[in-house]
Amino acid sequence: MGLPRREPAPAKLNLALHVTGRRDDGYHLLDSLVVFLTVGDVVTVAPGPLSLTLTGPFAAGLAADPDNLCLRAARLAGRDVAITLEKNLPVASGIGGGSADAAAVLRALGAQPRRPQDLGADVPVCLASRPMRMQGLGELLTPLPPLPPLHLVLVNPRLALSTPAVFKAMTRRDNAPMPDLLPDFPDAPALIGFLAECRNDLQPPAIALLPQIADCLAALEAAGAALPRMSGSGATCFGLFADAPAAQAAADAIAAENPGWWVTASGLAPASV
Ligand code: C5P
Repeated sequence: MGLPRREPAPAKLNLALHVTGRRDDGYHLLDSLVVFLTVGDVVTVAPGPLSLTLTGPFAAGLAADPDNLCLRAARLAGRDVAITLEKNLPVASGIGGGSADAAAVLRALGAQPRRPQDLGADVPVCLASRPMRMQGLGELLTPLPPLPPLHLVLVNPRLALSTPAVFKAMTRRDNAPMPDLLPDFPDAPALIGFLAECRNDLQPPAIALLPQIADCLAALEAAGAALPRMSGSGATCFGLFADAPAAQAAADAIAAENPGWWVTASGLAPASV
């Protein structure tokens, strides 16, 4: 594949995330509906030697050290390349971030490692970068029926949350799986009706660690969002709105009232990036 190559790394959003058990090695069994958004980071891969340059509004939250997932992805692919990561998403915020960036590097290189999950549980779904039901530890993927357009607002209190800490703070791990998927979701009300029967089981322990998450959810609710919920292990929360102008108006209002927060309106990414 010709280099340089610019590859979007769309944000991942867990519309629902059920934690249904824990294995002896401490990893958790998941059942999640995952979608990808129009907002995201951007990775550019050019001929080597192996290096990482960070740009973008959240570059300061990351170090270009050898453990960075972009560099680990390039090493897994066996390629010495110069990577530039435009970090548009808050770091450690429950919307993919590092996993989406690693998957974008692999896609840019045309690499198909046998075990992408070794880079992180969300890397397989981020490689696919299309709506999926995600089970197992994150490696069992089933494509979802076509989804209606969604108009979202994302809200993050600009406070990072450690994923292992959130899993560790769970008080109950044998939660019910998601209800059976519908054969299709003809419109947003059908999808919202289904999601209302679902949960994010990481939300209560995340709020216990970071009470500001409850403030983000309350702000979405006050702005008229359907289904305010946290994504992944947090702290980013989302809500659904009737159309793009309503989502943008809500995002503007929440941002105006909470100048310290990261707030953005977003739609779903096209199915293939
Ligand atoms: O795989 P990843 O590095 O994204 O996982 C971060 C942490 O999240 C793991 O160290 C583990 O504590 C927790 N995790 C888990 N069960 C999963 C995925 C992640 O317990 N299925």
